[in-house]
Amino acid sequence: MKVRHQARDVDPDSASGCADIRTRFDDPAFAAAYAASHQVSGPPQRYFSSRLHAVFEVLGRCPGGDLLDVGCGPGVFVQRVLDARPGDFRITAVDRSPAMIVEAAGNTADAEVELVVGVAEALPFPDASFDVVVAMGVLEYCDFVAVLRELERVVRPGGTVLVSMLNPLSPYRLFEWGVYWPLLRLLGRAEGLLGRSADRRHCVPKSGIRALPAGSLWRRMRKAGLRPVDVVHYDLTPAVPPFDRFLGKWTRRRERPADTVTRGLRRWMGTAYLVVATGVR
Ligand SMILES: C[S@@+](CC[C@H](N)C(=O)[O-])C[C@H]1O[C@@H](n2cnc3c(N)ncnc32)[C@H](O)[C@@H]1O
Repeated sequence: MKVRHQARDVDPDSASGCADIRTRFDDPAFAAAYAASHQVSGPPQRYFSSRLHAVFEVLGRCPGGDLLDVGCGPGVFVQRVLDARPGDFRITAVDRSPAMIVEAAGNTADAEVELVVGVAEALPFPDASFDVVVAMGVLEYCDFVAVLRELERVVRPGGTVLVSMLNPLSPYRLFEWGVYWPLLRLLGRAEGLLGRSADRRHCVPKSGIRALPAGSLWRRMRKAGLRPVDVVHYDLTPAVPPFDRFLGKWTRRRERPADTVTRGLRRWMGTAYLVVATGVR
């Protein structure tokens, strides 16, 4: 495993949503907790395993080659690729946060993976270097136009690009962002007025997330020079937070991974989606 720090010239403030979220991703304790949330049963784990199913369905059609994971976080996806497709891919993973790269290095210690600190808006790789480019859970924090242009630049002609995005039109996200989080923030403020100490108050930090509906992301990918070919909605749930926790417990026993993703009528229930595109140039 090689770890490289490489920054191309980019304004750090244009490269991420807001200082708040940047600070959290840069915190080693947050990086470790984020990695652990993939294992603990609950909504995040439900989300991650559904997304993994959707991504591996697409990866199954890729014979192998050079794979880039953009915004790799603590390297959980890289780990899964190494386990599921040993020897098929030469993997490079890049993230803006050194803490995430350190965590990824720990999680992939025995493997031949190149880990790079760098930003998605100015990827430190030559044109047409990768057969598969994956950007999961990262576009929401970035300059869409710059990142999509970079994904298009580094993928080889005929290569595959997979981009995930939270679905802002799903009942889950509408309720989470419009009702649930604002209510928790209000509750935290009320607790403050009543004298509860800061560490015991409800707190939802500003997420810095900006999300696009699937049609809009599809058009932006085409504008960036990619050829979108497929959209898969995943993490299907008719419930909204926090009730999905209880419904989830009840339904998960019977749920098969394939039932948590769709290309059909149930897509409105997907809390997120994946757009698959092909490199053209
Ligand atoms: C929500 S985490 C997703 C991590 C991983 N891809 C996953 O799906 O589990 C978002 C990651 O994107 C990284 N990130 C945010 N803005 C970035 C940027 N402009 N360039 C590169 N990485 C960025 C963060 O440091 C963080 O590790």
